[in-house]
Amino acid sequence: MLSKKSIIGIDDLSVEEVNKVLIHADSFLEVSKRDVKKVPTLRGKTIANLFFEPSTRTKTSFEIAAKRLSADIINFSAQGSSLEKGESIFDTLKTILAMNVDLVVIRHSDCGAAKLISENINIPVINAGDGKHQHPTQALLDLYTIKKKFDSFKGLKVAIVGDILNSRVARSDIELFKKMGIDVTIVSCPMLLPDSMDYINVEIKDSIDDVIDKVDVLYMLRMQFERQDKKFYPSIREYNKFLSLDINRLKKMKLSSVVMHPGPVNRGIEISEEVMSISGKLAEKLEIENQVTYGVAIRMALLYLILG
Ligand code: CP
Repeated sequence: MLSKKSIIGIDDLSVEEVNKVLIHADSFLEVSKRDVKKVPTLRGKTIANLFFEPSTRTKTSFEIAAKRLSADIINFSAQGSSLEKGESIFDTLKTILAMNVDLVVIRHSDCGAAKLISENINIPVINAGDGKHQHPTQALLDLYTIKKKFDSFKGLKVAIVGDILNSRVARSDIELFKKMGIDVTIVSCPMLLPDSMDYINVEIKDSIDDVIDKVDVLYMLRMQFERQDKKFYPSIREYNKFLSLDINRLKKMKLSSVVMHPGPVNRGIEISEEVMSISGKLAEKLEIENQVTYGVAIRMALLYLILG
């Protein structure tokens, strides 16, 4: 039901297919709200969740999505596997495929790992994040979160703030948001940007204060310390001065605007502790938990459209 067998990056989906995923996500969100959160759609199918890099949200989200569709799921983590005994990733994969798996979800720290694997096996592959390259299901759930809040993408302004250089979420979000007609601005500093920004082709600002009262969505990126091989910013204080969301900045945002973050949040870096633990009306601006909820519906939709 999708033109490509595997979803490695955003360019594997047309605008029509993205809309199809969003529409199906609505039905699966409804399933997730029922008392019995299960449909028989993928009964008899087996999905392998292969995580060669840590994850909480994506891994559990795919697992819950598969189970709610009645598929069987194998969870594989590199830690504690035969990889630690020197087995190669391809031999590990061959072993898992020998168990008659129908679809592979893969996260790996190397850019291109998901594509390489998809080219070497004959079942669908979904990229759950490969290095700094792509995280397509995160972008889809982010887009869905925006749709649930604003209904239409027309005229919407999104600012993506922080560590663009090391972020697969930034690459996938920018590509998907632009594809769907959303106006994207980047807020970052030269050290956290790629050498060439030509292929991204969006406006760049160097302080969150330049956009805070104008945007509909403030998308705070995680500082990817695990992918930084050197110190990219002089100090946290300096980062906070230009690129962090604190309570004063939150109060300057438009009434209808929202804050998003892919998680896990580095409290006190991208978003202040005070904002993260806020209650009352301003707390409604934070969409971070909704992103996680919508992620299950998006992954159910994708699994259904690929395997159903
Ligand atoms: N957003 C995201 O990919 O989170 P995890 O690393 O917890 O999966």
